[in-house]
Amino acid sequence: MSHLWLPFTQMWHFDGGARTFVRGRGTMLEDARGRCVYDAVSSIWTTIHGHCHPRIVEAIARQAATLDHATLLGATNPVAEELAERLCALAGMDRAFFASDGASAVEAAIKMALQYWQNAGQPHRTRFVRLRDAYHGDTIGAMSLSDIALFKSRFGSITFETQSYDATAPLGMDVAAVIVEPLVQAAAGMRLVPKKAYERLKDVEALIVCDEIATGFGRTGTMFAFEQTGLSPDIICVGKGLTGGTMALSATLVRQSVYDVFLGAPDEFVHFFHGHSYAGNPIACAAALASLALFEEEGTLERAQGIAARARANLEGLRQNPLVRDVRQAGTMIGVELRETLGRPAADALYDAGHFTRPIGDVIQFVPPLCSTDEEVDNFFEALGNVTLSLSKDAPNVTLSAVEGRSRCHPEPVEG
Ligand SMILES: Cc1ncc(COP(=O)(O)O)c(C=O)c1O
Repeated sequence: MSHLWLPFTQMWHFDGGARTFVRGRGTMLEDARGRCVYDAVSSIWTTIHGHCHPRIVEAIARQAATLDHATLLGATNPVAEELAERLCALAGMDRAFFASDGASAVEAAIKMALQYWQNAGQPHRTRFVRLRDAYHGDTIGAMSLSDIALFKSRFGSITFETQSYDATAPLGMDVAAVIVEPLVQAAAGMRLVPKKAYERLKDVEALIVCDEIATGFGRTGTMFAFEQTGLSPDIICVGKGLTGGTMALSATLVRQSVYDVFLGAPDEFVHFFHGHSYAGNPIACAAALASLALFEEEGTLERAQGIAARARANLEGLRQNPLVRDVRQAGTMIGVELRETLGRPAADALYDAGHFTRPIGDVIQFVPPLCSTDEEVDNFFEALGNVTLSLSKDAPNVTLSAVEGRSRCHPEPVEG
Protein backbone atom coordinates (compact mmCIF):
# COMPACT_ATOMS: atom_id res chain seq x y z
CA MET A 1 0.00 0.00 0.00
CA SER A 2 1.28 3.45 -0.91
CA HIS A 3 1.71 6.08 1.80
CA LEU A 4 2.12 8.87 -0.71
CA TRP A 5 -0.51 11.64 -1.19
CA LEU A 6 -0.18 13.42 -4.53
CA PRO A 7 -0.91 17.12 -5.13
CA PHE A 8 -4.00 18.06 -7.20
CA THR A 9 -4.78 14.35 -7.63
CA GLN A 10 -7.88 12.34 -6.76
CA MET A 11 -6.20 9.40 -5.04
CA TRP A 12 -9.32 7.21 -5.19
CA HIS A 13 -8.71 6.48 -8.88
CA PHE A 14 -4.97 6.84 -8.98
CA ASP A 15 -3.14 3.80 -10.31
CA GLY A 16 0.51 4.15 -9.31
CA GLY A 17 1.33 1.04 -11.33
CA ALA A 18 0.38 2.87 -14.51
CA ARG A 19 2.29 6.06 -13.80
CA THR A 20 5.46 5.65 -11.75
CA PHE A 21 8.45 7.39 -13.24
CA VAL A 22 11.78 5.79 -12.43
CA ARG A 23 14.19 7.59 -14.73
CA GLY A 24 14.53 10.71 -16.83
CA ARG A 25 16.82 11.22 -19.82
CA GLY A 26 16.69 14.23 -22.11
CA THR A 27 13.11 14.77 -23.21
CA MET A 28 11.97 11.34 -22.02
CA LEU A 29 10.60 9.88 -18.81
CA GLU A 30 10.71 6.14 -18.24
CA ASP A 31 8.00 4.49 -16.19
CA ALA A 32 8.21 1.42 -13.98
CA ARG A 33 6.72 -0.74 -16.73
CA GLY A 34 9.69 0.14 -18.92
CA ARG A 35 7.77 2.51 -21.20
CA CYS A 36 9.39 5.74 -22.28
CA VAL A 37 7.19 8.77 -22.77
CA TYR A 38 7.99 12.22 -24.15
CA ASP A 39 7.67 14.78 -21.35
CA ALA A 40 5.40 17.10 -23.34
CA VAL A 41 4.63 19.22 -20.29
CA SER A 42 8.24 19.57 -19.06
CA SER A 43 7.11 18.13 -15.71
CA ILE A 44 4.76 21.08 -15.21
CA TRP A 45 6.88 23.72 -16.94
CA THR A 46 10.09 23.07 -15.05
CA THR A 47 12.43 21.04 -17.32
CA ILE A 48 14.43 23.25 -19.67
CA HIS A 49 17.47 21.40 -21.09
CA GLY A 50 16.09 17.89 -20.64
CA HIS A 51 16.13 15.52 -17.69
CA CYS A 52 19.43 14.67 -15.98
CA HIS A 53 21.54 16.93 -18.20
CA PRO A 54 25.15 15.89 -17.42
CA ARG A 55 26.27 19.51 -17.01
CA ILE A 56 23.68 20.15 -14.27
CA VAL A 57 24.13 16.72 -12.67
CA GLU A 58 27.86 17.39 -12.42
CA ALA A 59 27.34 20.87 -10.93
CA ILE A 60 24.96 19.45 -8.30
CA ALA A 61 27.39 16.66 -7.36
CA ARG A 62 30.34 19.04 -7.12
CA GLN A 63 28.46 21.54 -4.99
CA ALA A 64 27.02 18.82 -2.72
CA ALA A 65 30.57 17.75 -1.91
CA THR A 66 31.75 21.33 -1.28
CA LEU A 67 29.03 23.18 0.64
CA ASP A 68 25.68 21.43 0.86
CA HIS A 69 23.86 24.11 2.78
CA ALA A 70 24.48 27.21 4.83
CA THR A 71 21.76 29.59 5.94
CA LEU A 72 21.28 32.96 4.28
CA LEU A 73 19.92 34.40 7.53
CA GLY A 74 22.71 36.82 8.33
CA ALA A 75 25.31 34.98 6.20
CA THR A 76 26.10 34.52 2.53
CA ASN A 77 27.83 32.06 0.21
CA PRO A 78 29.62 32.43 -3.12
CA VAL A 79 27.16 30.40 -5.21
CA ALA A 80 24.13 32.38 -3.99
CA GLU A 81 26.10 35.60 -4.62
CA GLU A 82 27.03 34.55 -8.15
CA LEU A 83 23.50 33.47 -8.98
CA ALA A 84 22.03 36.71 -7.62
CA GLU A 85 24.42 38.69 -9.82
CA ARG A 86 23.65 36.58 -12.88
CA LEU A 87 19.88 36.77 -12.43
CA CYS A 88 19.89 40.51 -11.83
CA ALA A 89 21.99 41.07 -14.95
CA LEU A 90 19.60 38.93 -17.02
CA ALA A 91 16.41 40.54 -15.71
CA GLY A 92 17.66 44.13 -15.37
CA MET A 93 17.13 44.05 -11.60
CA ASP A 94 19.44 44.83 -8.68
CA ARG A 95 18.83 42.39 -5.80
CA ALA A 96 17.70 38.77 -5.54
CA PHE A 97 15.83 37.40 -2.54
CA PHE A 98 15.82 33.60 -2.64
CA ALA A 99 13.12 31.13 -1.61
CA SER A 100 12.15 27.63 -2.74
CA ASP A 101 8.94 27.05 -4.75
CA GLY A 102 7.23 29.60 -6.94
CA ALA A 103 4.51 30.32 -4.41
CA SER A 104 7.10 31.24 -1.78
CA ALA A 105 8.62 33.79 -4.19
CA VAL A 106 5.13 35.28 -4.57
CA GLU A 107 4.61 35.35 -0.78
CA ALA A 108 7.89 37.24 -0.47
CA ALA A 109 6.77 39.71 -3.16
CA ILE A 110 3.47 40.34 -1.34
CA LYS A 111 5.15 40.99 2.00
CA MET A 112 7.90 43.06 0.36
CA ALA A 113 5.29 45.28 -1.29
CA LEU A 114 3.42 45.77 1.99
CA GLN A 115 6.53 46.50 4.03
CA TYR A 116 7.93 48.70 1.23
CA TRP A 117 4.97 51.08 1.58
CA GLN A 118 5.15 50.99 5.39
CA ASN A 119 8.85 51.87 5.27
CA ALA A 120 8.13 54.52 2.63
CA GLY A 121 5.57 56.24 4.89
CA GLN A 122 2.45 55.18 2.96
CA PRO A 123 1.08 52.35 5.14
CA HIS A 124 -2.43 52.84 3.69
CA ARG A 125 -1.26 51.10 0.50
CA THR A 126 -2.38 47.58 1.32
CA ARG A 127 -4.52 46.53 -1.65
CA PHE A 128 -3.37 44.08 -4.33
CA VAL A 129 -4.60 44.11 -7.90
CA ARG A 130 -4.37 41.03 -10.17
CA LEU A 131 -5.53 39.91 -13.58
CA ARG A 132 -8.80 38.10 -14.16
CA ASP A 133 -8.20 34.30 -14.09
CA ALA A 134 -4.85 34.87 -12.39
CA TYR A 135 -2.90 32.04 -10.76
CA HIS A 136 0.11 32.66 -8.53
CA GLY A 137 0.37 29.53 -6.39
CA ASP A 138 -1.33 27.66 -3.57
CA THR A 139 -0.07 29.24 -0.36
CA ILE A 140 -2.48 31.65 1.29
CA GLY A 141 -1.08 34.93 -0.01
CA ALA A 142 -0.44 33.58 -3.51
CA MET A 143 -3.91 32.02 -3.52
CA SER A 144 -5.41 35.36 -2.51
CA LEU A 145 -3.82 36.89 -5.62
CA SER A 146 -5.28 34.11 -7.74
CA ASP A 147 -8.69 34.08 -9.39
CA ILE A 148 -9.39 30.47 -10.33
CA ALA A 149 -12.51 29.61 -8.34
CA LEU A 150 -11.97 25.85 -8.44
CA PHE A 151 -8.65 26.19 -6.62
CA LYS A 152 -9.62 29.03 -4.33
CA SER A 153 -13.29 29.25 -3.40
CA ARG A 154 -13.30 26.57 -0.67
CA PHE A 155 -10.52 28.44 1.15
CA GLY A 156 -12.32 31.80 1.11
CA SER A 157 -12.30 32.03 4.91
CA ILE A 158 -8.50 32.37 5.00
CA THR A 159 -7.70 34.35 1.84
CA PHE A 160 -7.68 38.14 1.66
CA GLU A 161 -9.61 40.18 -0.85
CA THR A 162 -7.87 41.31 -4.03
CA GLN A 163 -9.08 43.44 -6.90
CA SER A 164 -9.40 42.46 -10.55
CA TYR A 165 -7.36 44.68 -12.86
CA ASP A 166 -9.48 46.94 -15.01
CA ALA A 167 -7.42 48.60 -17.73
CA THR A 168 -10.00 51.39 -18.08
CA ALA A 169 -10.28 52.48 -14.40
CA PRO A 170 -7.65 54.47 -12.47
CA LEU A 171 -5.80 52.62 -9.72
CA GLY A 172 -6.77 53.63 -6.17
CA MET A 173 -4.26 55.34 -3.85
CA ASP A 174 -4.55 52.32 -1.56
CA VAL A 175 -2.97 49.92 -4.07
CA ALA A 176 0.35 48.46 -2.93
CA ALA A 177 1.08 46.39 -6.03
CA VAL A 178 -0.33 45.11 -9.28
CA ILE A 179 0.75 41.56 -10.04
CA VAL A 180 0.58 40.23 -13.59
CA GLU A 181 1.47 37.12 -15.51
CA PRO A 182 3.21 38.45 -18.62
CA LEU A 183 1.79 37.33 -22.01
CA VAL A 184 0.16 34.06 -20.93
CA GLN A 185 -1.80 32.75 -17.97
CA ALA A 186 -0.67 29.16 -17.97
CA ALA A 187 -2.83 27.69 -15.21
CA ALA A 188 -5.93 29.31 -16.71
CA GLY A 189 -5.44 26.99 -19.71
CA MET A 190 -2.75 28.96 -21.58
CA ARG A 191 -4.98 32.05 -21.72
CA LEU A 192 -3.25 34.74 -23.76
CA VAL A 193 -3.19 38.28 -22.38
CA PRO A 194 -3.22 40.97 -25.11
CA LYS A 195 -0.14 43.20 -24.85
CA LYS A 196 -2.30 46.33 -24.71
CA ALA A 197 -3.66 45.14 -21.34
CA TYR A 198 -0.28 46.05 -19.83
CA GLU A 199 -0.02 49.48 -21.43
CA ARG A 200 -1.71 51.42 -18.63
CA LEU A 201 0.66 49.89 -16.09
CA LYS A 202 3.65 51.73 -17.49
CA ASP A 203 3.32 54.78 -15.29
CA VAL A 204 1.44 53.86 -12.14
CA GLU A 205 2.75 54.63 -8.66
CA ALA A 206 1.94 51.21 -7.24
CA LEU A 207 4.63 48.53 -7.52
CA ILE A 208 4.45 46.32 -10.60
CA VAL A 209 5.15 42.65 -9.93
CA CYS A 210 5.74 40.33 -12.90
CA ASP A 211 5.18 36.68 -12.10
CA GLU A 212 7.61 34.91 -14.44
CA ILE A 213 7.41 31.60 -12.58
CA ALA A 214 5.78 29.81 -15.52
CA THR A 215 6.99 32.05 -18.35
CA GLY A 216 10.62 32.66 -17.34
CA PHE A 217 13.73 31.05 -18.81
CA GLY A 218 12.91 31.02 -22.48
CA ARG A 219 9.43 29.54 -22.48
CA THR A 220 7.93 32.34 -24.56
CA GLY A 221 10.99 32.80 -26.80
CA THR A 222 12.71 35.51 -24.76
CA MET A 223 14.47 34.93 -21.45
CA PHE A 224 11.54 36.59 -19.66
CA ALA A 225 8.09 37.20 -21.10
CA PHE A 226 7.84 40.74 -19.70
CA GLU A 227 10.50 41.76 -22.26
CA GLN A 228 7.77 41.42 -24.91
CA THR A 229 5.19 43.50 -23.02
CA GLY A 230 6.88 46.88 -22.61
CA LEU A 231 6.42 46.53 -18.83
CA SER A 232 9.09 47.80 -16.49
CA PRO A 233 8.56 45.72 -13.34
CA ASP A 234 9.70 46.71 -9.84
CA ILE A 235 9.61 43.09 -8.68
CA ILE A 236 9.97 39.85 -10.67
CA CYS A 237 9.21 36.38 -9.31
CA VAL A 238 11.03 33.42 -10.87
CA GLY A 239 11.00 29.71 -10.04
CA LYS A 240 10.24 26.49 -11.93
CA GLY A 241 12.84 26.58 -14.78
CA LEU A 242 15.40 28.49 -12.69
CA THR A 243 17.40 25.32 -11.95
CA GLY A 244 16.62 23.85 -15.37
CA GLY A 245 13.89 21.87 -13.62
CA THR A 246 16.14 19.95 -11.25
CA MET A 247 15.76 21.46 -7.77
CA ALA A 248 13.34 23.65 -5.84
CA LEU A 249 14.59 27.22 -6.02
CA SER A 250 12.80 30.50 -6.58
CA ALA A 251 13.75 34.13 -6.36
CA THR A 252 12.09 37.50 -5.93
CA LEU A 253 14.13 40.06 -7.87
CA VAL A 254 13.81 43.74 -7.10
CA ARG A 255 14.97 47.13 -8.28
CA GLN A 256 17.43 49.16 -6.23
CA SER A 257 14.67 51.69 -5.46
CA VAL A 258 12.66 48.94 -3.72
CA TYR A 259 15.68 47.53 -1.89
CA ASP A 260 16.86 50.94 -0.63
CA VAL A 261 13.67 51.49 1.36
CA PHE A 262 14.63 48.49 3.55
CA LEU A 263 17.99 49.99 4.60
CA GLY A 264 18.49 51.59 8.03
CA ALA A 265 20.04 51.07 11.43
CA PRO A 266 19.34 47.60 12.99
CA ASP A 267 17.15 49.11 15.70
CA GLU A 268 14.96 50.88 13.14
CA PHE A 269 13.56 47.44 12.20
CA VAL A 270 13.03 48.38 8.57
CA HIS A 271 14.82 45.28 7.22
CA PHE A 272 12.68 42.67 5.49
CA PHE A 273 10.90 40.45 8.00
CA HIS A 274 10.70 37.25 5.98
CA GLY A 275 12.78 34.15 5.19
CA HIS A 276 12.95 30.38 4.76
CA SER A 277 15.43 27.80 6.09
CA TYR A 278 16.57 26.63 2.66
CA ALA A 279 16.63 30.02 0.94
CA GLY A 280 19.50 30.14 -1.57
CA ASN A 281 20.53 26.55 -0.95
CA PRO A 282 24.01 26.27 -2.56
CA ILE A 283 23.27 22.99 -4.37
CA ALA A 284 20.15 24.48 -5.96
CA CYS A 285 22.06 27.68 -6.81
CA ALA A 286 24.81 25.63 -8.47
CA ALA A 287 22.17 23.82 -10.54
CA ALA A 288 20.72 27.21 -11.57
CA LEU A 289 24.13 28.56 -12.58
CA ALA A 290 24.79 25.46 -14.70
CA SER A 291 21.36 25.83 -16.30
CA LEU A 292 21.99 29.49 -17.14
CA ALA A 293 25.39 28.58 -18.64
CA LEU A 294 23.64 26.01 -20.84
CA PHE A 295 21.45 28.75 -22.30
CA GLU A 296 24.60 30.15 -23.91
CA GLU A 297 26.40 26.89 -24.60
CA GLU A 298 23.42 25.20 -26.26
CA GLY A 299 21.69 28.23 -27.77
CA THR A 300 18.55 27.48 -25.74
CA LEU A 301 16.65 30.65 -26.67
CA GLU A 302 17.18 30.02 -30.40
CA ARG A 303 16.08 26.44 -29.87
CA ALA A 304 12.94 27.63 -28.09
CA GLN A 305 12.14 29.89 -31.03
CA GLY A 306 12.65 26.98 -33.44
CA ILE A 307 10.35 24.74 -31.37
CA ALA A 308 7.72 27.49 -31.25
CA ALA A 309 7.83 27.89 -35.05
CA ARG A 310 7.56 24.13 -35.58
CA ALA A 311 4.63 23.94 -33.17
CA ARG A 312 2.92 26.89 -34.88
CA ALA A 313 3.05 25.08 -38.23
CA ASN A 314 1.58 21.94 -36.62
CA LEU A 315 -1.16 23.92 -34.90
CA GLU A 316 -2.46 25.21 -38.23
CA GLY A 317 -3.56 21.67 -39.11
CA LEU A 318 -5.24 21.20 -35.73
CA ARG A 319 -7.36 24.33 -36.14
CA GLN A 320 -9.43 22.51 -38.78
CA ASN A 321 -10.09 19.58 -36.42
CA PRO A 322 -13.80 19.61 -35.42
CA LEU A 323 -12.95 18.38 -31.89
CA VAL A 324 -10.61 21.33 -31.32
CA ARG A 325 -12.29 24.45 -29.96
CA ASP A 326 -9.29 26.74 -29.79
CA VAL A 327 -5.52 26.74 -29.95
CA ARG A 328 -3.42 29.21 -27.97
CA GLN A 329 0.31 29.76 -28.19
CA ALA A 330 2.89 31.99 -26.53
CA GLY A 331 6.22 30.64 -27.75
CA THR A 332 6.56 27.12 -26.36
CA MET A 333 3.57 27.50 -24.02
CA ILE A 334 0.73 25.96 -25.96
CA GLY A 335 -2.82 24.97 -25.12
CA VAL A 336 -5.12 23.01 -27.40
CA GLU A 337 -8.66 23.32 -26.10
CA LEU A 338 -10.76 20.28 -26.99
CA ARG A 339 -14.51 19.89 -26.99
CA GLU A 340 -16.04 19.38 -23.56
CA THR A 341 -15.00 16.36 -21.42
CA LEU A 342 -12.30 15.26 -23.88
CA GLY A 343 -9.31 16.60 -21.93
CA ARG A 344 -8.73 13.67 -19.60
CA PRO A 345 -9.39 10.83 -22.11
CA ALA A 346 -7.20 12.58 -24.68
CA ALA A 347 -4.32 12.94 -22.19
CA ASP A 348 -4.64 9.27 -21.22
CA ALA A 349 -4.63 8.18 -24.86
CA LEU A 350 -1.62 10.40 -25.51
CA TYR A 351 0.21 8.63 -22.70
CA ASP A 352 -0.51 5.29 -24.38
CA ALA A 353 0.87 6.82 -27.57
CA GLY A 354 4.10 7.80 -25.79
CA HIS A 355 3.44 11.42 -24.76
CA PHE A 356 3.04 12.61 -21.17
CA THR A 357 0.95 15.71 -20.60
CA ARG A 358 -1.62 16.87 -18.07
CA PRO A 359 -4.89 18.44 -19.13
CA ILE A 360 -6.14 21.68 -17.61
CA GLY A 361 -9.86 20.96 -17.87
CA ASP A 362 -10.21 20.26 -21.59
CA VAL A 363 -7.03 22.04 -22.55
CA ILE A 364 -4.21 19.76 -23.63
CA GLN A 365 -0.91 21.38 -22.78
CA PHE A 366 2.19 21.27 -24.92
CA VAL A 367 5.03 22.90 -23.01
CA PRO A 368 8.02 20.91 -24.27
CA PRO A 369 11.57 20.76 -22.91
CA LEU A 370 13.56 23.38 -24.81
CA CYS A 371 15.90 20.71 -26.18
CA SER A 372 13.09 18.96 -28.11
CA THR A 373 13.72 18.04 -31.73
CA ASP A 374 11.49 18.91 -34.71
CA GLU A 375 10.61 15.23 -34.94
CA GLU A 376 9.44 15.14 -31.33
CA VAL A 377 7.27 18.21 -31.88
CA ASP A 378 5.77 16.73 -35.07
CA ASN A 379 5.18 13.37 -33.38
CA PHE A 380 3.31 14.99 -30.50
CA PHE A 381 0.92 16.85 -32.79
CA GLU A 382 0.46 13.83 -35.04
CA ALA A 383 -0.45 11.78 -31.96
CA LEU A 384 -2.81 14.50 -30.73
CA GLY A 385 -4.53 14.58 -34.12
CA ASN A 386 -4.91 10.78 -34.07
CA VAL A 387 -6.13 10.80 -30.49
CA THR A 388 -8.86 13.34 -31.18
CA LEU A 389 -9.89 11.26 -34.19
CA SER A 390 -10.10 8.14 -32.03
CA LEU A 391 -12.28 10.02 -29.53
CA SER A 392 -14.62 11.35 -32.17
CA LYS A 393 -18.07 9.79 -32.21
CA ASP A 394 -18.12 10.44 -35.95
CA ALA A 395 -15.17 8.14 -36.49
CA PRO A 396 -16.15 4.91 -34.69
CA ASN A 397 -13.68 2.80 -36.66
CA VAL A 398 -10.64 4.57 -35.38
CA THR A 399 -9.56 2.88 -32.17
CA LEU A 400 -6.99 3.89 -29.61
CA SER A 401 -4.74 1.11 -30.86
CA ALA A 402 -4.25 3.22 -34.00
CA VAL A 403 -2.30 5.74 -31.97
CA GLU A 404 -0.35 3.31 -29.83
CA GLY A 405 2.93 1.63 -30.39
CA ARG A 406 5.28 4.47 -31.28
CA SER A 407 7.80 2.88 -28.99
CA ARG A 408 10.59 5.10 -27.73
CA CYS A 409 11.71 2.93 -24.88
CA HIS A 410 15.03 3.34 -23.22
CA PRO A 411 17.33 0.58 -24.47
CA GLU A 412 18.60 -0.22 -20.98
CA PRO A 413 16.51 -2.31 -18.55
CA VAL A 414 14.75 -0.55 -15.69
CA GLU A 415 16.35 -1.07 -12.29
CA GLY A 416 14.41 -1.64 -9.11
C1 LIG B 1 2.37 31.92 -12.85
C2 LIG B 1 2.62 31.02 -11.68
N1 LIG B 1 2.94 31.56 -10.49
C3 LIG B 1 3.19 30.80 -9.42
C4 LIG B 1 3.10 29.43 -9.48
C5 LIG B 1 3.39 28.61 -8.25
O1 LIG B 1 4.59 27.94 -8.38
P1 LIG B 1 4.91 26.65 -7.47
O2 LIG B 1 3.99 25.58 -7.94
O3 LIG B 1 6.35 26.35 -7.73
O4 LIG B 1 4.64 27.05 -6.06
C6 LIG B 1 2.77 28.83 -10.69
C7 LIG B 1 2.65 27.37 -10.77
O5 LIG B 1 2.19 26.80 -11.71
C8 LIG B 1 2.50 29.64 -11.82
O6 LIG B 1 2.15 29.11 -12.99
